[in-house]
Amino acid sequence: MNDAMGAKPPARALWPENFIWGVSTSSYQIEGAAKEDGRGPSIWDVRSHLGRIDHGDTGDVACDHYHRYREDIGLMTQLGVDAYRFSVSWPRVLPHGRGVANEPGLAFYDRLIDGLLQAGIEPWLCLYHWDLPQELSDLGGWTQRDSADWFADYTALVVKRYGDRVKRFATFNEPSVFTLFGYAMDWGAPGLIDRTAHAKAIHHVNLAHGSAVDVIRAMAPTASVGCIHNRQRVLPEHDLASNADAARTLHRLWNEVFPDPQILGAYPAELAPFIAPYERSGDMARICRPIDWFGLNHYGPIFAKADPSAAWGFAWGKAPADAPVSDIGWAIYPEMFRAELIETSRKYGLPVYVTENGCGGHDEPSDEGDLNDQRRIGYLQHHTDAMHAAIKDGADVRGYFIWSLLDNFEWGSGYANRFGIVSVDFKTGQRRIKASGHWYRRLIKESRLALSTNPAPD
Ligand code: FCB
Repeated sequence: MNDAMGAKPPARALWPENFIWGVSTSSYQIEGAAKEDGRGPSIWDVRSHLGRIDHGDTGDVACDHYHRYREDIGLMTQLGVDAYRFSVSWPRVLPHGRGVANEPGLAFYDRLIDGLLQAGIEPWLCLYHWDLPQELSDLGGWTQRDSADWFADYTALVVKRYGDRVKRFATFNEPSVFTLFGYAMDWGAPGLIDRTAHAKAIHHVNLAHGSAVDVIRAMAPTASVGCIHNRQRVLPEHDLASNADAARTLHRLWNEVFPDPQILGAYPAELAPFIAPYERSGDMARICRPIDWFGLNHYGPIFAKADPSAAWGFAWGKAPADAPVSDIGWAIYPEMFRAELIETSRKYGLPVYVTENGCGGHDEPSDEGDLNDQRRIGYLQHHTDAMHAAIKDGADVRGYFIWSLLDNFEWGSGYANRFGIVSVDFKTGQRRIKASGHWYRRLIKESRLALSTNPAPD
C-alpha cells in the first residue's frame, strides 16, 4: 500500500461520543532495567540470552522506559491520547513468580500510574503480556494446572496495590498467540513444539483468566475488566483446497479457543476433544465469567498451509504474491478489519476496544532525525476509515489504541521491526515523534472538534 494518504486528517471526523484514543506498549518490549531493583528473570530474558532473537537482541535495555517513563508520558501528552495501555512485568513485582513481593518493582508502577493520572491519561493495565517469571516456567509454566492459582495470586497483588487508581484491567494479551508460538511452534518463549503441552496451556490460561476476573471483581468492584484477543482472518495459502483444513485448525486455535469459552462458555467443537483430558467438572463455569469488554488486536489476515509433520498439521503460509504488504511482509486488507470488527461485536455481544493496530517497518530517520513514515500513515488512515465504516454498520467499537507508542523490542525480530509512532534511537534512547505520531495527534484533535461542533452522528 504505497498510496499513503499524506498527513491529511480524515474528512469524516465524527466518532462516537467518549470514543477513546490511545496507544499500547508492553513491559518486556519497552522497560529494560532487566536486572535492576530486584526484578527476576522472565522467559523472554532467558530466550533472548540463548541467542534466539534476530541479531542477538535482548530486552535488557529496550527503550529504557523504566528510567524514561516521565518523558514517555510527556510524549503521550503531546499526542493528546486519552488512554495508555501497558502491562505489568510479573517478575518485576514477584521476582520468583510467587511469594515475597518486590517493593521497588511495585513502586515503579505507582510512579507510572500517578504520572499518567496527573497528565489526564487513563491507565489501562494488562496483567500479562507474555513475560512469565522463569521460575514458574521451570515448574512447567502454563502446562501446570497450578498456574491458574499463581496468576490469581499475582492478580490480587496488583489489584490491591493499584485498584484504587486503575479502573481498566485486562487479564491477558493475546493468549492464542503466546500459547501457540510458545508451546506448539517454538516461535516464542518457552519454546516447545508439543501439542499436548499446548492443549494444557490453553485450558490453564483460560482458568487463570476466569480466576483473575473473580479476584478483580472482589477487590476492585468498580473496575472494568476484559481480555485482549488477536483476531484475524485465516486464509488457506494459494487458496488451495488442500490447505483448507490447515486454515480451519489455525482459525480455531487463533481466533476462538480463548474468547469462545471465556465469553460463550464452550470450546470450539473440533478442539474440545484435545482439551477434554485436562478439564475437570466445574471448569467451564470458572472460565466463563461476565466481563465488560472485548479487546481486539488486529493487523491483517494470516495464511496457513498443510504440514502433516507439524504439531497441529499446519504451518505458516505465505500471503499471495500480489497481496499488499507492509515493509515487514504482513498482509494489509483494511476491509477485513471492518469485517472482523462487525463479526466480533455481533458474535460476542460486548463493547469492542481495538487494543492494538499498527504497521511494522524498517524506517530509519533522515539525516535531520525526522521520520516521514508515510506508509504507516497510509495503513493507519485506511484502518481507522475501516473502523469508522464498521461503526456506521453497527459494530459497537468504543476505542482504538495504536501499536505502538514507541519503536521497541519486537519479540523474535528484536529491534529491526519498528511499529512506533515515536522513533527510538536504541543507542542513545532519544525519542522523536514520527510523521504518523503527528497524524494521530491531528486525528484525535479533529475528532474532538467535530464532536463539539456537531454531536450528531453522520
Ligand atoms: C502483537 C503483540 C505485540 C506486538 C505486535 C506487533 O501480536 O501483542 O506485543 O508484538 O503484535
